[in-house]
Parts: sequence; structure tokens; C-alpha cells
Amino acid sequence: MNYGPLEGLIGNWTGNSGMDVAPEPDGTDHEPYRETLLFDPIGDVDNAETQELMVLRYHQSVFKLSNGEMFHNESGYLSWDVHSNAIIQSFSIPRGVSVVAQGTARADEDRWTHIDVSADPSTISQADFMRDHARTLAFSRRISVRDNELRYSQTTSLHIYDRDFEHTDENTLTRM
Ligand code: HEM
Repeated sequence: MNYGPLEGLIGNWTGNSGMDVAPEPDGTDHEPYRETLLFDPIGDVDNAETQELMVLRYHQSVFKLSNGEMFHNESGYLSWDVHSNAIIQSFSIPRGVSVVAQGTARADEDRWTHIDVSADPSTISQADFMRDHARTLAFSRRISVRDNELRYSQTTSLHIYDRDFEHTDENTLTRM
């Protein structure tokens, strides 16, 4: 099975240099974190007899360095469209938000593979409470992988506490 630009992600990863920037009612919280991230190949999926996706299932668990508390959990799929070369990432988080982000993958001259995906309101679903009190307006994520190193950075654009807020996360992981 050929997973194309996703091939280098397959496996178990861990990293302890994460930084979360999250909204607080009266300001901004900066929280250092560690995480585990698992990418598991699950084969191909065909859509409408024409689209062929090669799919990884993934699961991310994120813990505060300060006290070990798990404070983010995310499950989803990362798919490569064999014919168009497009990337699709679909995922859910326990708050009641589901995202379908789409984009591209490319290799650079230093052998890094960069996967860039983004989502706008038309591909973000959220529970009524979240829509009314902590709305996700947009999402973008870059994952870069080379050999046994994986880096990501992401921005979740929120409207919460009567203001717009750029909720960001980034980490560097190594293969376990
Ligand atoms: C490493 C990844 C992430 C971490 C560590 C993280 C952590 C946090 C934290 C600490 C808050 C503040 C509220 C609280 O204390 O519970 C928060 C809020 C929020 N996050 Fe994340 N988050 C991450 C990724 C995401 C992603 C990918 C999404 C959705 C696309 C998301 C959606 C939200 C939303 C909607 C809120 C507002 C809810 C609230 O503050 O009450 N987060 N996140």
C-alpha cells in the first residue's frame, strides 16, 4: 500500500515542547504541554467510483506539563487523494466540534514533507452551545515531517467572551 506524502507519518510519536495559547475570560493562557500522537494506516477508501483515498487514522492526547492533566484529545483521519494529490483531514474534539480541513502536501529541497490544510465555516460543525458561546470560525494546520521528526503548528480562530481570539498550538515530536 502506498500512502504517498502521508507515508512518513505512520507510527507512534511523542513530544514534550508544546505550547498552547488559549482564551481566558480576562486574557490569554500560555500552557506548555507534552503529547502522544499515533498514525495508523487503514487502507483505501473509494468515493463515487472515481475518488481513491489512502487513509491514516490518528489519535492525539495532550497533557499539561505543569500537572499532567489531559487537556486536549483529538481523533480523526488524514487522507491522500491518489488522483488529485489533495489532502483531507477530518477530526473531532470532545468539546463538540468537528472539522473537515483540506489542502496540499509538498516536499522541499531539505527532504521535509509539508502538509497544509485549512477549514472555513462551511466545513466546521459544532454543537449548539459552542456555536453560541465559543464558536470556531476557521482552522489551519501545518504538519512537517522528515525521518524521525514531526513538527506542527495550528491556528483555531474562535469567537468567545465577546471577542475574536487566535487559539494556537505547536509542538515538535520524535518517533517512539
Ligand atoms: C494541542 C491542541 C490543543 C490544546 C492543548 C487546546 C487547549 C485548549 C484550552 C486550554 C482551552 C481553554 C479552555 C479550557 O481551559 O478548557 C481551549 C479552548 C478551545 N479550544 Fe482548544 N486546544 C487544542 C486544539 C484545539 C483544536 C484543534 C480545536 C478545534 C478545531 C480547539 C477548539 C477549542 C475551542 C472551540 C475552545 C473554546 C472553548 C473554551 O475556551 O471554553 N482546540 N483549548
